[in-house]
Amino acid sequence: ERSLLGIKELDASEISQLLGRTAYWDNQSEKLTPVLRAHFVANMFFENSTRTRFSFEMAEKRLGVQVLNFTAAASSVEKGESIYDTVRTLESMGIDAGVVRLKPAGVLQQLAGKVNIPLINAGDGNNEHPTQALLDLYTMRKHFGELKGLKVSIIGDIMHSRVARSNLWALTKMGASVQFCAPANMQAPELAAYAPYVSMEEALKADVVMMLRVQLERHASGIILSAEQYREQFGLTEERAAKLDAATIIMHPAPVNRNVEIDDAVVESSQSRIFPQMANGVPVRMAVMERALQ
Ligand code: CP
Repeated sequence: ERSLLGIKELDASEISQLLGRTAYWDNQSEKLTPVLRAHFVANMFFENSTRTRFSFEMAEKRLGVQVLNFTAAASSVEKGESIYDTVRTLESMGIDAGVVRLKPAGVLQQLAGKVNIPLINAGDGNNEHPTQALLDLYTMRKHFGELKGLKVSIIGDIMHSRVARSNLWALTKMGASVQFCAPANMQAPELAAYAPYVSMEEALKADVVMMLRVQLERHASGIILSAEQYREQFGLTEERAAKLDAATIIMHPAPVNRNVEIDDAVVESSQSRIFPQMANGVPVRMAVMERALQ
């Protein structure tokens, strides 16, 4: 299988293999290794993105891939064309793979069953964001040496988070343990069987403290806590960050709501790995692209 629809469908050895290839690409000093120059890939983003979109493009270009960038707002989607017809259209033109970001969960799986090219999930609703989890695991592995036995706290808007779900599946498969911390209206009760919900005080006692963005755009019923109340109760404030164990690392998939879920000064503190996470997104996506096309 050359598609990557989610971490749920990978086993530990496949994850290890992808992380191994990520390390290989991360250690290459040459920026351009055009081994995939005979391949055409469309990046199809039906939802906004900065990091995922551009790091896929960087990864593809570093491998010499011929890149087609599709943005829904500048396409016939605006005339009512469906996601399926859009992907089929690009497939008819001869693309060899598609990188797809979608708002609704579940659509990508259906789409993959109807096309003959590998599809790579660049984030689908609150379902999965597999390349984000891979870059998060790579960042942890690079820092700690191994993933087995790590304790990872994921704090914030779990309900709407595909990042939390993909990390949960990936970390538990690799022998790490996950715990969640979230206000009541941001919890995902169906995940409680896989990771306990703990207090903020408890969540800060971990090897990795992963903060999540409060996804204001996805809260149909409104936010119960104000930004200031959220920061006080669930934010990684400077005061809380100062109490973390010196060996703990701080992560966030970004974009960041500075001074809501994480204080401005903490984003760029010595324990933060937020910008290295973004850097690691490129070799991870090179590894995923290589798997899809070779
Ligand atoms: N972390 C992440 O997926 O960021 P973008 O939404 O900017 O791609």
